[in-house]
Amino acid sequence: MLGEGVFSSDVLSLNGLDDRRKSHAVVGQAEELMADAVRADRAFFSTCGSSLSVKTAMLAVAGPGEKLLVSRNAHKSVIAAVIVNGVDPVWVHPHFDAGRQLAHPPGPEDVERALRAHPEAKGMLLISPTDWGSCADIRGVARVCHALDVPLIVDEAWGAHLPFHDSLPTWGMDGEADLVVTSVHKMGGAVEQSSVFHLRGDRVAVDVLKQREDLLGTTSPSSLVYCALDGWRRQMVEQGGELLDTALRRSARIRAEVAAMPGLRLLDQEAVHEGYTAELDPLKITVDVRELGISGMQAAEWLRTARHVDVGASDTCRISGQITHADADRTEELFVDSLRALVEEAGSLERRPRVLLPEPGALELEQAMLPRHAFFGEAEQVPAEKAVGRIAAEMTSPYPPGVPVVAPGEVITAEVVDFLVSGAAAGLLIPDAADPSMRTMRVVAR
Ligand SMILES: Cc1ncc(COP(=O)(O)O)c(C=O)c1O
Repeated sequence: MLGEGVFSSDVLSLNGLDDRRKSHAVVGQAEELMADAVRADRAFFSTCGSSLSVKTAMLAVAGPGEKLLVSRNAHKSVIAAVIVNGVDPVWVHPHFDAGRQLAHPPGPEDVERALRAHPEAKGMLLISPTDWGSCADIRGVARVCHALDVPLIVDEAWGAHLPFHDSLPTWGMDGEADLVVTSVHKMGGAVEQSSVFHLRGDRVAVDVLKQREDLLGTTSPSSLVYCALDGWRRQMVEQGGELLDTALRRSARIRAEVAAMPGLRLLDQEAVHEGYTAELDPLKITVDVRELGISGMQAAEWLRTARHVDVGASDTCRISGQITHADADRTEELFVDSLRALVEEAGSLERRPRVLLPEPGALELEQAMLPRHAFFGEAEQVPAEKAVGRIAAEMTSPYPPGVPVVAPGEVITAEVVDFLVSGAAAGLLIPDAADPSMRTMRVVAR
């Protein structure tokens, strides 16, 4: 089914791609070239996606029982790291934009306040860009962290393309972050699970990072992943400027078309001018569809079924299409035509039950217990309405974007239950909850 090439290329890393002693430093050389290409001091390939790279990065900065500042709009892999690594998190809450129902990354002032309140914290983890293309003021946050002598980790899973064009938002290494994680299979071009972490300066020691990576990484890395990462680096160094120029012109044309379509609201520079976000990735075409009377999930399902177009993400309010260096005139036309058809057809789509969206601040839950203790302790499954006031023992993350609405150790509120129960009824996917239907929730036993 896959073809012989896949299997014949899937050689072992040692005694295959290289010899037993790694005498040709095949992977090491590719990593050096990557570091050079993206202006990092060091780069390390990872074959387990950013899900594992963020765990390694966090473990290199804060060990069990130590405090780490974490932006609360984090992907579930970051919250999983908090649980697995046994970190004591200090949540830094995002900027919640009630009109757009979007969480944007926190700013330098939020991070400074949290660092001053928790001087023992070992560092900060920021997410930029978000799934929807909203970007943090990385340089501002890095300078605040460095003034207080702690490192900044940036989960830049959605930012693999950023080092290769000046008109794209700030790349973490240029923004003076210490450790940056990317997934090249997302906005770049590589097979799934292709991730890199990048190091700058000496706030995070290379040997500590390597040893902690060794705790988590596989002993059977995929050569296909390594080769795809190396190939991506070479393509970007040789042709990235030109390819991304074309992608940027393409996305500008698409954005202009979408802005003129009735019932669609594009996430655009207005969100920057209103002070919610520092920068936006123009290659993310994030479109609110609520005025069409449908949810983003319905829009995504219709686009896939009727038009064979898969969008990168969808939630209750919106969809997000991704334009990359790999798009062509054909995919541009198909995307624009399909959105036009969606606007025309939306009226005939089934009306789904209303989702009770949370108000600003309603997602800032009280942390009553260490996430690790809440997750591994004794738990019970209770009806959702009885979960109000109880401490969560699980992650509950609508996917996408996979940001937990409730993390273990947080006190569940009525607003959160209303949102999750109404969301599940309207088609929100919540795969990590023990009961994805949200009829019951897993809480710490009394
Ligand atoms: C912000 C963020 N960080 C990390 C990850 C995990 O990346 P991966 O799917 O490569 O494991 C994701 C995945 O969507 C993400 O959105």
